[in-house]
Amino acid sequence: LQTLPPVRLAEKYFHIFPDERDPLWQNPCHDKRHKDIWSKEKTCDRLPKFLVIGPQKTGSTALHAFLSLHPAITASSFSPVTFEEVQFFSGSNYLRGIDWYMDFFPVPSNVSTDFLFEKSANYYDTESVPKRAAALLPRAKIITILINPADRAYSWYQHQRAHQDPVALNYTFQQVISAGSSSPAALLTLHRRCLQPGYYSSHLERWLHYYQPSQLLIVDGLQLRSKPVQVMESVQKFLGVTPFFNYTQALTFDESKGFWCQRLDAGRTRCLGKSKGRKYHDMTPESRAFLSEHYREQNVELLRLLKRLGQPLPSWLRDDLHNAS
Ligand code: A3P
Repeated sequence: LQTLPPVRLAEKYFHIFPDERDPLWQNPCHDKRHKDIWSKEKTCDRLPKFLVIGPQKTGSTALHAFLSLHPAITASSFSPVTFEEVQFFSGSNYLRGIDWYMDFFPVPSNVSTDFLFEKSANYYDTESVPKRAAALLPRAKIITILINPADRAYSWYQHQRAHQDPVALNYTFQQVISAGSSSPAALLTLHRRCLQPGYYSSHLERWLHYYQPSQLLIVDGLQLRSKPVQVMESVQKFLGVTPFFNYTQALTFDESKGFWCQRLDAGRTRCLGKSKGRKYHDMTPESRAFLSEHYREQNVELLRLLKRLGQPLPSWLRDDLHNAS
């Protein structure tokens, strides 16, 4: 039996099996062989029970904030790399390995009743994520929030303007969404970032390839915005988390913010920062009509998919397809 020093051995191995160069992390405790060589100092319990996968601009920060008020639910700590979200499954952080990921979570005091989670809103539409997430967290529950993809695209455009993105400042929303293959590369990049996450049914099908329908909750983002107490009730039921937390006490509508916020003592509130719930002009009817047409096929597919899954239809989807027909 021959062997080589570790680095040369690895080089030889990956030369023979090039497909295995991309790692796919699994839970070490799900395989006895892995568990046996996993350090006694380590635990497999510092992993999330559920993921909030976005997409961006649908209310994912509000859901994260509301979930974090629940006594049995704990969010991952903030990432110094991305300033907020962990974004483990979606990019190069994945190569940092699962110890890096687990460090974002506390050791739960009670594994069966504590619910750890993380929210990374780009998970929804990043192609590599469902496969990677399912390899490490096969039993996790997955929560997604959907709003009208036209509004999502517009919110992203406004977000980029607020961040002084020169492309968003130099082009109107209509120019961004109607850009074609001969448009400048930077305009096409913004065009894609506005439109691509909104192909909801294609992204959902990818998730459903790796997760059972019963593991997936689709939240209507409009409802989250207008009736968060009811939404948080259904989220708690879906997760099976106890004790039941009464959000009627915890949340209140803040007139000046125009959104639901955390209720504090003495009539004070804690709302999300000014980057959430921005004030901007309504989308033009031209852009609304363009996007309604653009997303028609995907929205029809989404309708079919939700019916197949027995999931309720979001009000915006019903309205959009009704207005388009
Ligand atoms: P706008 O700023 O365009 O209005 P995300 O956190 O996924 O990036 O989503 C941001 C969006 O969440 C905001 O988009 C806002 O409309 C929506 N939202 C829903 N509930 C909210 C709340 N309670 N406070 C602030 N924003 C909320």
